[in-house]
Amino acid sequence: MMTRKTEDVFETLLNNQWIGSESGETVPIYAPDDHEVVGRVPALSQEEVDKAVQHTAEVQEAWEAREGHERSELLHRWAEELEKMTDEIGEMIHLEVGKTLSSGKSEVKRTAQLIRHTAEEGLRTHGSFIQGDAFPGATKQTKAMVQKVPHGVVLAISPFNYPVNLAASKIAPALITGNTVIFKPATQGAISGLLMVQALVKAGLPEGVLNVVTGRGSVIGDFIVTHPLIDMITFTGGTDTGKHIAKKASMIPVVLELGGKDPAIVLEDADLDQAAKEIVSGAFSYSGQRCTAIKRVIVMDRVADELVEKVKDIVSALNVGTSREDASVTPMIDQKAADNVTRLIDDARSKGAAVILEGVKEKNLLGPTLLDHVTEDMAIAWEEQFGPVLPFVRVESEQEAIQLEKRNEYGLQASVFTKNLENAFAISDKLNVGTVQVNGKTSRGPDHFPFLGVKNSGQGVQGIGRSIDSMLRDKVLVLNL
Ligand code: NAP
Ligand code: G3H
Repeated sequence: MMTRKTEDVFETLLNNQWIGSESGETVPIYAPDDHEVVGRVPALSQEEVDKAVQHTAEVQEAWEAREGHERSELLHRWAEELEKMTDEIGEMIHLEVGKTLSSGKSEVKRTAQLIRHTAEEGLRTHGSFIQGDAFPGATKQTKAMVQKVPHGVVLAISPFNYPVNLAASKIAPALITGNTVIFKPATQGAISGLLMVQALVKAGLPEGVLNVVTGRGSVIGDFIVTHPLIDMITFTGGTDTGKHIAKKASMIPVVLELGGKDPAIVLEDADLDQAAKEIVSGAFSYSGQRCTAIKRVIVMDRVADELVEKVKDIVSALNVGTSREDASVTPMIDQKAADNVTRLIDDARSKGAAVILEGVKEKNLLGPTLLDHVTEDMAIAWEEQFGPVLPFVRVESEQEAIQLEKRNEYGLQASVFTKNLENAFAISDKLNVGTVQVNGKTSRGPDHFPFLGVKNSGQGVQGIGRSIDSMLRDKVLVLNL
């Protein structure tokens, strides 16, 4: 087991030098499990952030001029170095954001695979060639070469819940396409992010091509988002933060992956055992702190009792405890997040929801809670809980289920459980979400599939190929022969 690094300050990266903040100020990172300090990261000032952006912008031209295969080779070496650090980084993810050790390590391995795939896919980007004669007045003598060029300096902002994977899924596509990067990790998760960057430096990152800025988003966030040398922003996090960033960013391209309220829609002909298994895994893994977690069940009344009973049986068997005990449901990221879940449970209870199962409440550790007969006047029917509580809303018809889903503000994913595939397709056509999963839980992977949210769940598309596309713009050269 790793030794606690309570007094360690994990320095940030500027031009391949590991540095602290000039003021010496740091932000302590507390373990969700026991609230002890895991380590500290520099609290950079706006002036220091400015310096980092300036240095990054200075090397943009040189990085963009490098051959694509060289950039791809760097990413392959990064994946290799990252894999060598699987134990160290996995343990830090475990300590810092409260994932079990095995899921911390799996996140690192998944990330190495994502980087390798990006290194390959990025080599296949290409522009197009257009003849002018398709438009009246122009002839074949007018020809356009449409090139794909990088935006420039990309600001990558990641959330706490996948501190390595959701950072690399922005950084790797940016680098392969010739963009330079300013990486702003979530404060909770920043140490894991810095270790991931250590792997990139070991792999031979050229000076200044990626710099890291650490410090509270509330202090340096607006400054960096509005910095005139930032050319594109790719963000994953909460909807309020994302909307705020989009407004501030104004004229530059912004890709946003935000919150969700993914429903599992369970029809009368569903295999209820399979649905229950998928629902529990979808709703409660990492204590529901995933954008793609199943956040409500919309179930046909005729099978609701049976489904609720099956879900209850599986949930009752989940271990609840710390991530160090390898529990299935572990403490939430912080007390504020846990209090929000408790508020939603209390609100539903006070308005008549049936509490089928109620978990323990010990500080930020919340055991799984199941709420049945949830109605539309309850906040949990609409708000993202991002925690281990699952509401069941009973409906009389498929039409009612579809309408209920469509009236919600989010649109990340939805699951439909049915044996009738034709019907699944028909329902899928009517749902306004980024992805519909048939007979499976909502989830992001495989990582080369397009991944997107509509409505308040996001803007733009990620997933390896689409993330690469988002890092490029057209540049047109017209030949007038
Ligand atoms: P968050 O509080 O919105 O923070 C996300 C990131 O934004 C962090 O790096 C944060 O930095 C930074 N930030 C905060 N204020 C900022 C500002 N004014 N300007 C620039 N950056 C700013 O989200 P979170 O708590 O980490 O993650 C939970 C939320 O993310 C949930 O709603 C979840 O659904 C969503 N999420 C969505 C996806 C998806 O792919 N759709 C994936 C994962 C998570 P600090 O940490 O320093 O404040
Ligand atoms: O938290 C949001 C992530 O994008 C979810 O990824 O479905 O692989 O857990 P996941």
